[in-house]
Amino acid sequence: MKNDYILIVGGAGYIGSHVAKESQKKGYRPIIYDNLVYGHKELVKWGDFVLGDLADIEQLRSVFKRFPIRAVMHFSAYAYVGESVENPAKYYLNNVANTIYLLNVMREFGVKYFIFSSTCATYGYPAAIPITEKHVREPVNPYGRSKLMVEWILSDFSVAYDLKYVSLRYFNAAGADPDTEIGEWHEPETHLIPLVLDVAIGKRDHIKIFGTDYNTADGTCIRDYIHVTDLASAHMLALEYLFKGGKSDVFNLGNGEGFSVKEVIKTAAKVTGKKIKAIEWNRRPGDPDVLIGDCAKAKNILEWEQQYNDLSTIIRTAWQWHKQLRQSP
Ligand code: UFG
Repeated sequence: MKNDYILIVGGAGYIGSHVAKESQKKGYRPIIYDNLVYGHKELVKWGDFVLGDLADIEQLRSVFKRFPIRAVMHFSAYAYVGESVENPAKYYLNNVANTIYLLNVMREFGVKYFIFSSTCATYGYPAAIPITEKHVREPVNPYGRSKLMVEWILSDFSVAYDLKYVSLRYFNAAGADPDTEIGEWHEPETHLIPLVLDVAIGKRDHIKIFGTDYNTADGTCIRDYIHVTDLASAHMLALEYLFKGGKSDVFNLGNGEGFSVKEVIKTAAKVTGKKIKAIEWNRRPGDPDVLIGDCAKAKNILEWEQQYNDLSTIIRTAWQWHKQLRQSP
């Protein structure tokens, strides 16, 4: 029902903030719960905000007491692959243990709808492209494993406790709100598109291309970039699917089309009108040659349609936001 309260955990982050906007647009009432470790208060523009950590169970309970929450969307995971290898405890504690606290508080308050932010990193190195939801799941780092563990936990909880959930496995989230109200803002930034835009804006001298000897046409890695607003709309469709009685399930969210690192840099140069200096560098450990998602299931069952699936549009919206972010005091 419209006007329902939706708890968005991690709603001050990149994807969570776009979902908060979309949920309000659809007539829901977003409640943002975020510890602001990686999130930014400036990205909270819709709904109520509660400062809190998932490990703080009393604070979490107070939110469920204060608002009649109907559903929970969970975005507050750590997502740096390299860091997860160096400090797995941090990843398993936050991404797995804290999610169990959240699910337990939901049970206490009789809240049964849950949307989980999962990742294509749960598949590991692809055996076939495009990757469907049935692809074997063999994550190759603690980040991917932490997300897969939560998927298993959700499956078990749904059998034992009547939890209704959807796990959404994102490919490469990119772009920014087309109204330029919010966008990608990571500290530290490690993602290709914002780093390329930092070169365009003059904040960095060059971008390093991590590997030019991959098994692809130009030798650089191919990824499936999906616009964050399209991701957000898929979350709302997944929620409404559950509200209408849909069964718990897992969906890929990508564009079904891949672009190489060199193609991204070339498109960014065209969109920004700036010269982008690129230096060919060593491979980054753990990068598969190609990751492209098969998203037919989300299209068929959720009736999801992307609006911003062209790479130039993705980069143009990211650029509009990036200029605003980097040029503000
Ligand atoms: N890349 C560069 N230079 C850079 C940064 C990235 O060449 O300075 C390359 C990477 O090697 C990769 C591509 O650009 O081939 C995209 O890299 P990103 O870091 O932007 O994104 P990833 O594909 O590594 O990561 C994304 C999500 C992760 C998720 C992963 C699943 O951000 O959370 O997909 O594979 F785990």
